[in-house]
Amino acid sequence: MATVPSKFPDAKSPSVHLAHPTPSERRAFLTNNGQSWRGNLTIEQYLVREDAVYDYLTPANMTYWVLVDGDGEERMVLSSCETYKRRGIVAREGKVKDVVGHGIGSVFCRPELRGRGYAGRMMEELGKKLQHWQTEEHECLFSVLFSDIGKKYYAQFGWQPFPSTHLHLATIPLTTPSLPSLPPTRPLTTSSLPPLCTLDESLLRHRLPPTSAASPSTSLVTFLTTAELLGWHHVREDVIATATFGRPAEVRGAVCGEEGERVWCYWLRSWYNADGTNTERNHLHVLRIVVEGWDGADGGAVGEGREWVGGIAAVLDAARREASGWQMEGVEVWNPSEVVVEAGRLLEGGCRVEERETESIPCLRWYGERKGESVRDDVQWVANEKAAWC
Ligand SMILES: CC(C)(COP(=O)(O)OP(=O)(O)OC[C@H]1O[C@@H](n2cnc3c(N)ncnc32)[C@H](O)[C@@H]1OP(=O)(O)O)[C@@H](O)C(=O)NCCC(=O)NCCS
Repeated sequence: MATVPSKFPDAKSPSVHLAHPTPSERRAFLTNNGQSWRGNLTIEQYLVREDAVYDYLTPANMTYWVLVDGDGEERMVLSSCETYKRRGIVAREGKVKDVVGHGIGSVFCRPELRGRGYAGRMMEELGKKLQHWQTEEHECLFSVLFSDIGKKYYAQFGWQPFPSTHLHLATIPLTTPSLPSLPPTRPLTTSSLPPLCTLDESLLRHRLPPTSAASPSTSLVTFLTTAELLGWHHVREDVIATATFGRPAEVRGAVCGEEGERVWCYWLRSWYNADGTNTERNHLHVLRIVVEGWDGADGGAVGEGREWVGGIAAVLDAARREASGWQMEGVEVWNPSEVVVEAGRLLEGGCRVEERETESIPCLRWYGERKGESVRDDVQWVANEKAAWC
């Protein structure tokens, strides 16, 4: 188990550097950071979850990082985090490019070492490193993180905050009748996801450039919601569902309409309340909403797409019914478009739109060309939805 140093190294010291943890260092920092992120799991269950995720992704797509002082057996771990290599696309001036976008998660410093600049030094080093990390196939043009400590801290290291609103819908009992005007939905299971993800990717590639409302010098960036990315969310979810409810989740989303005109969403059950009997802060997160027949679904002109409101309302209604069976207070949809908000309002009980100021703030660091004063002048983050979270 890690000890408190008798003398704290200076965060700027040349002996302090970024490295990868040994298996025992990894176990030690997970045991520590589990206090922050285990939710309703015990530390042992949390370690099982983290192992399951690492086994699923393999080192090709997931990397652990530590800031250490010194080398060899004597080195001391000062802070830690992990990164996920993800597929992204960047569209600019009508051209779409495949890129790597790294996601950063679990930035952590032990309580007794805090306030000495260790996490800051780690972020400084990591920010530079990621630009060229795992870029054998595609260049890396951006990295993201989801700050739980507000909008300022990570901005000083280059990760600028992006919109952080969400639509909230309260859970309803399964017995509540559906609005008769809504189209019927069908559940999505794991096996139905890969073809939908492939179709979503190809639609997104075609939609990005022409639907840009941004200036020509603005780059549109987005992560691709691949079946592998969804699998990562669902591996985590299933460990918690099994530990808490004795069964993995089966339904991964909902779809309505016929081919060519479908609306679907993928979802994720997120339990944050340490008390397994309390629903507060537990949400079914809509990972992404896809409208097959509408070019403007990811960034189209304001005022369009009204004909899809019923379909979107139907899948949101399915989401809040699903949430009721899993000890949740409601459903969240991150950065909803106008049409999604309209759909939420259509449902009985309505919805509210909130801005998060402290938790899960999407922050992006851009490695491409800079012209504007802030990153948000140069980059528009399209489909800034929960699917991108890590
Ligand atoms: C956030 C964390 C990694 C910072 O580690 P650290 O080594 O102390 O960071 P640094 O010394 O580089 O910077 C300290 C600064 O971080 C900021 N900070 C730390 N915790 C914060 C919080 N909860 N809210 C807002 N800012 C915070 C403050 O600006 C602080 O400066 P201060 O000590 O003068 O107030 C550490 O506090 C931690 O592990 N917290 C628990 C896990 C967590 O929330 N991680 C962040 C996930 S996004």
